This record gives sequence, C-alpha cells and structure tokens, in this order.
Amino acid sequence: MSDRKPRILCVDDEILNLKLLEAVLLPMGYEVLTAGNGEEGLRKIREQKVDCVLLDVMMSKMNGFDACRKIKENEETRHLPVVLITALTSREDRIRGIEAGADDFLSKPFDEGEVIARTKMLLKMKSLGDRLRNAYSDMIEMNSYSEKIVRTFNDADFDLMSKIDGIVEVLFQGCDNGSGGPQSIVVRLLGGTTRHEWFLYAGKGDVRRAAVAMDFAPDVPGGGPSTIFFSNDPDHDPMFRPFTVKLKGLGTDVRNLVCYASDILCVFALNYGREVSLYDTAVVNSLVMHTLFLRSLAMKLKEVDDAFAYTVYALARAAEANDEDTGNHILRVGEYCALLAGKMGLSREFIENIRVQAPLHDVGKIHIHPGILKKSGGLTAEEWESMKQHAVYGAKIIGEHRKLGIGKAIALTHHERWDGAGYPKGLKGEQIPIEGRLVNIADQYDALRNARSYKPAFDHDKTYKIITVGDGRTMPGHFDPEVLRTFEENASGFEEVYEKLKG
Ligand code: C2E
Ligand code: SIN
Ligand code: SIN
Ligand code: FE
Repeated sequence: MSDRKPRILCVDDEILNLKLLEAVLLPMGYEVLTAGNGEEGLRKIREQKVDCVLLDVMMSKMNGFDACRKIKENEETRHLPVVLITALTSREDRIRGIEAGADDFLSKPFDEGEVIARTKMLLKMKSLGDRLRNAYSDMIEMNSYSEKIVRTFNDADFDLMSKIDGIVEVLFQGCDNGSGGPQSIVVRLLGGTTRHEWFLYAGKGDVRRAAVAMDFAPDVPGGGPSTIFFSNDPDHDPMFRPFTVKLKGLGTDVRNLVCYASDILCVFALNYGREVSLYDTAVVNSLVMHTLFLRSLAMKLKEVDDAFAYTVYALARAAEANDEDTGNHILRVGEYCALLAGKMGLSREFIENIRVQAPLHDVGKIHIHPGILKKSGGLTAEEWESMKQHAVYGAKIIGEHRKLGIGKAIALTHHERWDGAGYPKGLKGEQIPIEGRLVNIADQYDALRNARSYKPAFDHDKTYKIITVGDGRTMPGHFDPEVLRTFEENASGFEEVYEKLKG
C-alpha cells in the first residue's frame, strides 16, 4: 500500500447500514466507498484499488456469498480481504461464508469497536501480504538483473557507469511492480582516484542521467566496508540536511531516502511514495554489491590478461636471442594484424588475440643456427631447408593450450601462400587459417621495411609495390585476395604503425 489512505468498500442494500459504517470508518482516517449490491461492488473493485471489503450477505442483485466467491476466484483480487456481514446467530451463513473464501465476519447490529478492530487487523494483514508478494517480485527482478549482467559480463569492456544505469532501471521498476520504488536517484561515483562525480536520474522510469554539481560529502568509510542507511525524515536529519537543501535547489524535494555508500560509489534512492525500511536498503545494497563484485572480477581478469600478454611477449622476445636485432618487429606485426582484422570486421576477441599472439610467429627460429640467421648472403639449399623448419618448431614450442591456439596456428602457417607455393605444408586458400594469412602479409611488409643481414631497408612505396605488384620472389597471388585488398585500402595505416613503433 502506498501512502494514500486505506480504502474500504462497504456493500449493503440498506442505505442506513452504509451510513452507519461510514460514521465509524471515516473518523478512523479511512476512505470509504459504498455500493448497493454485489454487482455494483465488483464493478467498484475493478475500477479502483480497494484495500478491504465489508460485504453484506443478503442483497437482491448478487448476494454476498456470490460476490465473495467472485473476488476470491479472480487472480487479481484474491488477496483482497473480505468481511462478511451476517445476522448475529447464523451459524449456517458463517459456514457458507468460509466456503466462499471470506476472511472474517461481522454481525449485525454493528458493534463499533468490533468493526474498527476487524478492519484494522485485516488491513494490516493485507499490507504484510502485499509486502511479502512485492518482496518476491523484487527478488525475481533482482535475479533477472543479476543473471543479465553475468550473462553479458565482458571483462574487456566492463563499464561501471552503464551497470549503474542498469541498477537505476531495476530500482525504478519497483514503482511499477507495486512494491513502490524511488521517484529519483542520485549517484556519486569516484572518477579517477580522488574526484567524485555526481549524477541525478530525475524522473521515475527515465534512466537518462544528468551530471550535477554537489558539495555534500556523505560520511562514508574510506577504503573500508560500505554503509547502508535509510531515513523517513532526511530534512530534519543534520547529516542529510545539506543534501536535501541542495536537491531542493535542483527541483527535487526529498521526502525519504535509502542509501548505499562507499568510497567508490554512493547510490541515493529518493521518494518512495511510502515509508522506507531496512528492506529497501537491502534491495539497493544487493544490487550494488552484485555490480561491484563483477567490477572487481573484471579488474582481476584484466590483470590476468595483462600478465598473459606480457608472458607471451617475453617468450617471443626470448626466441630472438640468436637472431639479428629486429627491434620492434614482433610488436608491429601484431599491430598490423589487429588493423587488418578490424577492417575486415573480425570479432573483437579475435583482434585482441591476434594482436597479442602474432609476435610468436618466429618463435621457432630459436632452433635455427645463428650462422644461418645472421648470414649476409643468400642461403644454400640445405640452409633453406633448415630455415623452413622454423614454422614447425614454433608450433611445437607453443604446444597445446586453448588460449594459445591462434599463436600456434600462426607459427605453423605464416609462410603458407594462398596459391599453395608456401611452406611447411604447401596449404592452399582457405586451408590456411585466417590468422596465418594475416600474419603472412604483415610479416613481409615489416621485413621489407627493415634492413636484414641479407637485404637493405625499403621505404613504404617500394614495399607497397613489392607486395601489390610483385618482384618475382613475392607475388600478389601469394596472398588471400581479401586480405590483400584490405592491405591496399589501409596501406597508410601500415605506414603509421611502422613510424610509431619503429623505435
Ligand atoms: P625475415 O627476414 O623476417 O623475412 C620474412 C619474410 O619477408 C620472408 O619470408 C619473405 O617472404 C619476406 N622478405 C624478406 N626480405 C625480402 C626481400 O628482400 N624480398 C622479398 N620479396 N621478400 C622478402 P621467407 O622468404 O620465407 O624467409 C623466412 C626467413 O628466412 C626470413 O625471415 C629470414 O630470417 C630467412 N631468410 C630468407 N632469405 C634469407 C637470405 O637470403 N639470407 C638469410 N641470411 N636469411 C634469409
Ligand atoms: C547489462 O546490460 O549487463 C545490464 C544493464 C546495463 O548495464 O545497462
Ligand atoms: C629464398 O630462397 O631466399 C626465398 C624463396 C622464396 O621465398 O620464394
Ligand atoms: Fe617466419
């Protein structure tokens, strides 16, 4: 029930009885509706929210038993308490009334004290029942919210602000499901390490947030555990007074509030349209804790991902020990691949994986004799056979791990060619995994741009020409046509990556 007056419907075909009931109930602060028979009574129940019905048994158009049965049969009204008004001694009427689902009985002639006591008791029962049912529906809503954020959880782009929008949405939904939710919500978020940002969600059901200036500093524990509290008279609470005054200035009167507060995040839910209680703080607390838990999980996962990327990079670096110094070659190859993959519309996960794992492409060179790697001239047939094995060695070193599947495929296939003329297996076309096709062009662009023991450095234009027109050793037919086209369309991006990371 909201903070409107409890509404009692009295149904009797004798005007005098209705007047008597009104005379008792109105001074109690109740709103009284009246109806002259069962049919009219049911219509009034359909038309507006009623909290309790006092129902006479003997009426011409639909008697009290039938009206009571209809109320109790309807899913929407079966929780509405019904008091049957029977003749003083009619045991039989009471049994029929129980069968019809009546919650209580009053005898005629009325005893004023009895009418008041029974009505009060039933209203209280109704209110507790309502709260219980609303708690269930809140719980179901919270569960479906939690399920949704877990299902859509993505540690790479966990965005606390959008999760807070989600919490606000769920709290506002409380307004619609009957439990009574806040009309407005204010959020304080720690941006960076010291700066607090304030946001106001001014309208019920309107999840658009507006940044607001606020000089109120809630008394929250720094670093330690969070606190929760509620107030039904914040205007007269010295702790909240500055807050309510400020909000009044922004056009929002604060009648009651529920708050979750920590140094990272404060959520103030305002104006429930009824008294707030510990239960409401528990709802807010649960939603916020859930979100903050996922946030800290996202942060931990990011740390693990970073450590993984670093370890992969360190492995790739270690493998260069015997090779000539190729500077940032391995990092640039990762960046070119990420650029191509992005332009080709591949998934974000794939883009990040290839960026991190492409540097492993030549990890197998650790098994190639430094004399071959650093030789200034061309290779003998025997040396070349040995050189080609670096692809197989690389795949072997990386081995079997689900998270390194792309790296392994890259090591093995980055010298395969679209026309089937590559090594080590002579795979053709789409037999070569896309990651191998991407690294193939990226690796060659970068090897051409740099001086090697066996070749000088070429500039961007010459390199572009070797790849797109061919020089006999490298030919356009070696490349996946779509990959080659994407390279041609984004060649300036390659040049930018080279310039940025040439160090
Ligand atoms: P890398 O030096 O990192 O070169 C990678 C790939 O870039 C080469 O793969 C090749 O496709 C392309 N590339 C490099 N330089 C040129 C060039 O001057 N012209 C053209 N058209 N393409 C070039 P590839 O051929 O499978 O070679 C694999 C690795 O074998 C090379 O890696 C390098 O370590 C070694 N290698 C290849 N040729 C020679 C050579 O003549 N002398 C020596 N010492 N090593 C060689
Ligand atoms: C979700 O999408 O994970 C919940 C709703 C939101 O964050 O906006
Ligand atoms: C070489 O023999 O140096 C390379 C042969 C080729 O990549 O076609
Ligand atoms: Fe290679």
